[in-house]
Amino acid sequence: MEIGSQGAMDVLDPASDTVIASVPMCGASEALSALNSAFEFQPQWEATPPAQRADVLRATAAMVVARKDSLARIITQECGKPLAEAAGEVQYSADYFSSAANEIHALNDTHLDLQRPGVRGVVRHRAVGVCAAITPWNFPLAMLARKVAPALAAGCAQLAKPAEETPLSAFALAEILLECGLPPRCLHVLSGDAKAIATTWLMDGRVRKLSFTGSTDTGRLLLRQCAQEIVRCSMELGGHAAFIILADADIDLAVKGALQAKFRNAGQTCICPNRFLVHESIASEFTARVAVAAAQLKIAPGMEAGSQIGPLIHDAAVEKVRSHVADALARGGKLICGGQTKQLPDLPDRFFEPTVIANCDPSMLCFTQETFGPVIPIMSVTSQKEAIDVANSSPFGLAGYVFGGSDSSTRSVAQQLQCGVVGVNEAAPSNARAPFGGVKYSGYGREGGAWGLMEYVTTQYLALRSLDK
Ligand code: SIN
Repeated sequence: MEIGSQGAMDVLDPASDTVIASVPMCGASEALSALNSAFEFQPQWEATPPAQRADVLRATAAMVVARKDSLARIITQECGKPLAEAAGEVQYSADYFSSAANEIHALNDTHLDLQRPGVRGVVRHRAVGVCAAITPWNFPLAMLARKVAPALAAGCAQLAKPAEETPLSAFALAEILLECGLPPRCLHVLSGDAKAIATTWLMDGRVRKLSFTGSTDTGRLLLRQCAQEIVRCSMELGGHAAFIILADADIDLAVKGALQAKFRNAGQTCICPNRFLVHESIASEFTARVAVAAAQLKIAPGMEAGSQIGPLIHDAAVEKVRSHVADALARGGKLICGGQTKQLPDLPDRFFEPTVIANCDPSMLCFTQETFGPVIPIMSVTSQKEAIDVANSSPFGLAGYVFGGSDSSTRSVAQQLQCGVVGVNEAAPSNARAPFGGVKYSGYGREGGAWGLMEYVTTQYLALRSLDK
């Protein structure tokens, strides 16, 4: 068993509380050694031709796919999501590597006609320098892939701190990158004391960029530290998506979309819909149908065949969901299905039933805070304007959804939503080739495609007067 300067920590399967591994509990000393190593190696990686960097990324994408089964099992064991979803996450992670490799041409110089005799302009995209990634437990492989892939593509050495609950996916990815030819000093993954590691990296002055996915509160703390050394940041913070269903929506499609978007990872997804705003003319029918479908989902450990709802990550998550349900019911919400945990024999009481609550309103906790659990709170609205106003009244703005029968009105509603990602009659908008990120309290910066890559470069403009005859 490997030990860090602060000892070791157990990684638990949230479905059973079984210890599945023990990993080093690293602290400030390991963080500093990793930073020294990455900083010294940075110029070498930056000078490696982009095509060669892209080769490593393409090989990584291929190997991630080739190891889909074993990676999916690691994800399911440490974060609890159903195996089929974990396999989807593995493919999603591989896509970030191929996308970063495919976009590497965006780093080419741009030549400018300055319209001045004898002087021409060249715009270069230079690696920002050593980067730090701090990633969450809900997508332990994909959230790291979408930071590491563009950072390496841009020529940055990368430091990474995975969530305490889920370090194993990160170690597995680092191993694959090494096997695919990444020089070892380019990537350092440290499990352990988040505060000590982050503080060492961010207050040192040699880390030039932080990419963080996690809660808005933690994001604020990290931003304060980053302010000291003017560290550039990408912040993918909490979400509170609205799921708007217009009067002319195809109800079958809306029910299917609601289940797909809401119950992914048992509702523990930043882009999960949290507020269902349904036109009053179809609210009862939608509510009844979504409840029937939700009640049929199979609740079981993620490793069990056919599981659709796995455990929540820990007991505090269960308590939060319970408190949101209790608050909604106390304020006049009507429980249509679920509302409590399902106790499975010999397993921790962490499996929350898919829950549907009608008669919700914006005063309820589930309408003001991210529930991060399998709850569909439904408010009926009288107009598109009311739906848009309620949706935009949240200080969060990561994702939103609009379901309706006409392309022009759904698109018009989508364009009025204050959020970075909108699914229009589409419940799974995330894609490694597209920009992902939020506005307002949901943060800033984009991940995915060329947008993600450009977050890891600085722009240098050269005004070149040539003296050659
Ligand atoms: C997240 O929960 O932050 C990631 C969700 C996604 O990429 O679709």
